[in-house]
Amino acid sequence: MASTGKKKAPKRVTSKKSAAKKSATPRKSAKKAASKKATKKSAGAGKARVVSKKSAGSNRKSSGSASAAPSYLRVFPRTFLWGTATSATQVDGGDLHSDWAHFSQKSGNIADGKDCLTTCDHWNRYEEDFKLMKSMGFNAYRLGVDWSRMEPRPGENDHAALNHFRGMLESLNKKGIRPLLTLNHFAVPQWWLERGGWAQEKNLQAFMDFASYIVENTGDLVSEYTTINEPNVYSMFSYMEGLWPPGISGLSGYFKAMKVLRNMALAQGKLYDMIHETHARKGFASPSVGMAKHVRIFDPARPDNRMDRDRAAEAEYRFNLMWTDSIHDGRLQGSLGKNEKFHDGPCWDFIGLNYYTRDKIRFSPTAFARLFIEQDPVGDVPTNDLGWEIYPEGLYRVIHEFHERYRLPVRITENGLANAADSKREHFLVSHIQQIARCLEEGIPVEGYYHWSFLDNFEWAEGYTARFGLVDVDFQSQQRTIRNSGSAYKKMIAQARKSGR
Ligand code: FCB
Repeated sequence: MASTGKKKAPKRVTSKKSAAKKSATPRKSAKKAASKKATKKSAGAGKARVVSKKSAGSNRKSSGSASAAPSYLRVFPRTFLWGTATSATQVDGGDLHSDWAHFSQKSGNIADGKDCLTTCDHWNRYEEDFKLMKSMGFNAYRLGVDWSRMEPRPGENDHAALNHFRGMLESLNKKGIRPLLTLNHFAVPQWWLERGGWAQEKNLQAFMDFASYIVENTGDLVSEYTTINEPNVYSMFSYMEGLWPPGISGLSGYFKAMKVLRNMALAQGKLYDMIHETHARKGFASPSVGMAKHVRIFDPARPDNRMDRDRAAEAEYRFNLMWTDSIHDGRLQGSLGKNEKFHDGPCWDFIGLNYYTRDKIRFSPTAFARLFIEQDPVGDVPTNDLGWEIYPEGLYRVIHEFHERYRLPVRITENGLANAADSKREHFLVSHIQQIARCLEEGIPVEGYYHWSFLDNFEWAEGYTARFGLVDVDFQSQQRTIRNSGSAYKKMIAQARKSGR
């Protein structure tokens, strides 16, 4: 089981290695693909004891009662999706067959030496958790389903697990909480990883069989999808940094990472068609299909230095844009392929952005293995418990950039911070939600905000020390306690709903 983590936990910053390899394909200039397919779908077990800490004078910045909402909240449509996000591996517990179940039990892989076998026990406690969500006013929840739980051994579907999962979706629907379903959030079945996982194109069929099984059997209860979570982060940590399963790094890891990105893009095309086709064939509600893209701000460390600016732009293209350009055009770009067509037009209906922080980029003549890209130390700026800069304006900038580039509705599918003391989370929420309000005022269709995270959870190789929850979890007793910031978010939602447009 758990063992003491010897390996230093990965710093969740842009990998220096990640941006380090040369792209053979020339960069495409910013385009304004006019996809008018803008979905107009805006919004519209065991028992855990729940304690609500009094929100002592919470919401300093958004003062006043629900009837006196601060002006930034008044620009939100009443149908706005106010939500939170989790992933199955990080909260559910009880799945023995994922690569993360295997990996986290091995000595030295997780910073605090703990595994993901129980985590928040959300799988069993979902009813309590959803009641809590409802009490906080959320009308949206981004959740995941792990393939390894549904198909623990190749070809063996666990029908009881599927029914259980249907129960979760039914419970959300009953409470008026709209599910946004992630079909792959980093974890995969160990048996599939052993066959080469995402690095092998021939493996895509097995993934598609699983995804079709889920959509066929739950599409009556869910119609919004963030297919794949953060291909860029996954390929980097799993195949370049070697810090996540399968723990590969080095030059061969780099080439595998590019295959992973390419195969995930191909999968996105297949998923997009399969989901639309299945919903139409079975008479399910018309779906909205996106994915969750991790985006960062890359600013030059010395703004007046041309080389820094150039390297920041390179990092930006490789980390933020190469993959989404590919799925938007239906053509493999950058290091993913030579513009080969794999899909007729865009394979997403909305842009899902996971935004956390900014990196300052400097040209380094010695960093040739990293395309001369070096990341500056964070410096004297506000940070979260993991040392990530807190930079709210970055949210405005990425929403702008992505909407301008792809002309689709936007959802913030993750945004949050590790802050065990909860001293910064309320301000973080207000300052980031204000940036969304700016975008709405400018007419950008932002449909929803899913704060990461609802509960404290298993933060991958960081283990349980990074506390991202609006709700504190005592992992011994499984007691949930709404943090002050959770109460502040609840109040913001109530105010926005009351006085929004
Ligand atoms: C994102 C991941 C999510 C969580 C947050 C903190 O990159 O998608 O699972 O780890 O970071």
